[in-house]
Amino acid sequence: MSEYHIVASTAELGDEDQVHVNVNGRDILLCKHAGKYYAIDYYCNHAFLPMEGGTMQHGLITCPYHGAEFSLADGSAQAAPAWEALTSYPIQVTNESITIAVT
Ligand code: FES
Repeated sequence: MSEYHIVASTAELGDEDQVHVNVNGRDILLCKHAGKYYAIDYYCNHAFLPMEGGTMQHGLITCPYHGAEFSLADGSAQAAPAWEALTSYPIQVTNESITIAVT
């Protein structure tokens, strides 16, 4: 069963910012892109390097190492060299708290 965990306040994340958070031992990249919040695996599944610092455009994030692209909304792989989806985590914003659900 999923449980929501507070990971940041909305004041901590400006538009196009990314923050590394750890929830129950999982490394997660919390992002704000075009006014929306997203949470995906922190590590790319191609060579297990950090997604942090990847360019965000048109709802996609590009891995800064070898250019794989993933949907921020559902983690699906959109461009080689990654073919499998990253895990994407449900997010809720309540008042000024950003929470992520992790099973
Ligand atoms: S580590 Fe992300 S594309 Fe290679």
